[in-house]
Amino acid sequence: MPILKDVFMSLSQNQLLNSAAKKYGLKMGAQSVVAGTNVAETIKSIKELNALGISATVDNLGEFVFEKEEAITAKNNIIEVIEGIHENGVDAHISLKATQLGLDIDYDFCYQNLKEIVAAASKYDMHINIDMEDYGHLQPSFDLMDELLKEYSNVGTVIQAYFYRATDDIEKYKNLRLRIVKGAYKEPVEYAYQTKEEIDANYIKLIEYHLLNGKFTSIATHDHNVINHVKQFVEENQIPREKYEFQMLYGFRKDMQVDLAKQGYNFCTYVPFGDDWYGYFMRRLAERPQNLNLVVKQVFTKRTNTAIGLAAGIFALGRLSAKTKKNK
Ligand code: FDA
Repeated sequence: MPILKDVFMSLSQNQLLNSAAKKYGLKMGAQSVVAGTNVAETIKSIKELNALGISATVDNLGEFVFEKEEAITAKNNIIEVIEGIHENGVDAHISLKATQLGLDIDYDFCYQNLKEIVAAASKYDMHINIDMEDYGHLQPSFDLMDELLKEYSNVGTVIQAYFYRATDDIEKYKNLRLRIVKGAYKEPVEYAYQTKEEIDANYIKLIEYHLLNGKFTSIATHDHNVINHVKQFVEENQIPREKYEFQMLYGFRKDMQVDLAKQGYNFCTYVPFGDDWYGYFMRRLAERPQNLNLVVKQVFTKRTNTAIGLAAGIFALGRLSAKTKKNK
């Protein structure tokens, strides 16, 4: 399984396949975990979630942004979603990534794009979550948030439990609304815990700390063991339900999402949309290769999917056999 994880992580960074995927539209099973390609489809999905008592955090998918034009398009799309959320009166806020808004192009340019988004959302008292990416973008993303917090209060971010520094970061940002996750990228041992046991233990520690000391905690996981632990912890410590929520990704463990909302917990679904779905989808496969069943089914039942499916498959097999040989 670790080999498969590495293969999908490297597939997620393949720019050629990423461009092909954009051209061909939602394929390979991605439509089950991506809410739509445009704002109208996304608002429709949010309305369906709201009807189940679930709120949404909306992410306009985007990776490998190296041109200013692309970052400006992303900014405009996000502002369009903010207006759409407001006009339709749906219960939703925004998640975004700094690289999509130009962090790899120019820090100040990225800051200006972010600032426009945060200003547009603050008119409606709407929260903006800065998602966290790989280690190389971690400190710059915190710096951007620090700048924004000088002027706006509707901003928060993500703490990734696999990083050793997460304990210091959560202490520093305890007065913010924080999403706490295990961490989705492959990180070296210099910065991050590597084993499931270590990551899970740190994850629980950080959640408990923020529930007791922090402003608002979004517990973002599909792990039933963590969710059950949190349910017991909040009960024992009399943490009011307004202080936390559970979050899961769109299309994952749908029954459990609805059940938690029915049990009266605040629940928020992460709703990705757009045509730049490829990297997001590959990271989900890296986390849980069982999701590969989805791909295989789609690739072999729909002829139109075979171009990308085959390319990804050949690439994956190449990587896999190279790794296996090396490991032998
Ligand atoms: P994990 O993958 O560790 O699984 C634990 C166990 O849970 C599994 O062994 C299985 O038993 C069960 N399980 C998990 N998924 C299941 C499924 N689909 N069906 C059935 N059982 C399942 N990361 C990041 O680096 N930056 C970010 O900004 C974000 N943002 C974010 C938002 C939201 C809403 C979520 C849910 C996640 C993120 N992440 C993230 C991703 C996160 O860091 C992490 O990689 C994934 O959530 C996978 O870890 P889990 O805690 O979900 O369980």
